[in-house]
Amino acid sequence: MKVSASFLKSKDIPKDLTKLNETDVDFIHVDIADGKFVKSKTMPFKEMRHIYEYTSKRLDVHLMVENPSEYIPLYAELNTEYITFHVEVDEDIDKDLQLIKDYSIKCGLAINPSTKVSELIPYLPYLDLILVMSVEPGYGGQEFIKETENKLAEVKALLESYNIKAEICVDGGVNDKTRDMCYDATMVVAGSYITNSDDFQEKISSLR
Ligand code: DX5
Ligand code: ZN
Repeated sequence: MKVSASFLKSKDIPKDLTKLNETDVDFIHVDIADGKFVKSKTMPFKEMRHIYEYTSKRLDVHLMVENPSEYIPLYAELNTEYITFHVEVDEDIDKDLQLIKDYSIKCGLAINPSTKVSELIPYLPYLDLILVMSVEPGYGGQEFIKETENKLAEVKALLESYNIKAEICVDGGVNDKTRDMCYDATMVVAGSYITNSDDFQEKISSLR
């Protein structure tokens, strides 16, 4: 299981990113919220960009925003492996996926807990990652929604039926207990479970 660490709930981002450099975590999950697609709002890119200098890991960017096309060029400048945005947005999804690919970055689509897996079907051939939200997006530290277990099975079956190999990633409320409901995923995002602890590596290892 790959592990992507979110620092949304971190109280000292430079310190936690430096600590994460010493672990085997696969990616740093960057949550971007615009106060429109979700109620919460993260710092503007100008203020955020110096923070990424503390990490040596590749970034896995999660855009919880109404207009991904405004953010994609900014995050494409960084050491970014994935840029993921939500299938629920009103922008032209094909165009935004193509924009990410134009920067030679892998692209993903996220689905909210109430969104049907079938919404992903038109975009499957273009996707490198599917981000299944196991909480309502916007805030860290929420409880894992149990129905996610079935949703992950549905996503896996869908990918198999189309013979597509994309990462299946789960985001929200993941810890060593809820990890047991994520066996159909290939990657988990964990935030508070890691950053609230003293031993980051131990927590990351417990999710593998
Ligand atoms: C939720 C974010 C998640 C969140 C995960 O809006 O997309 O990435 O930071 O944090 P935990 O693991 O604390 O639920
Ligand atoms: Zn996220």
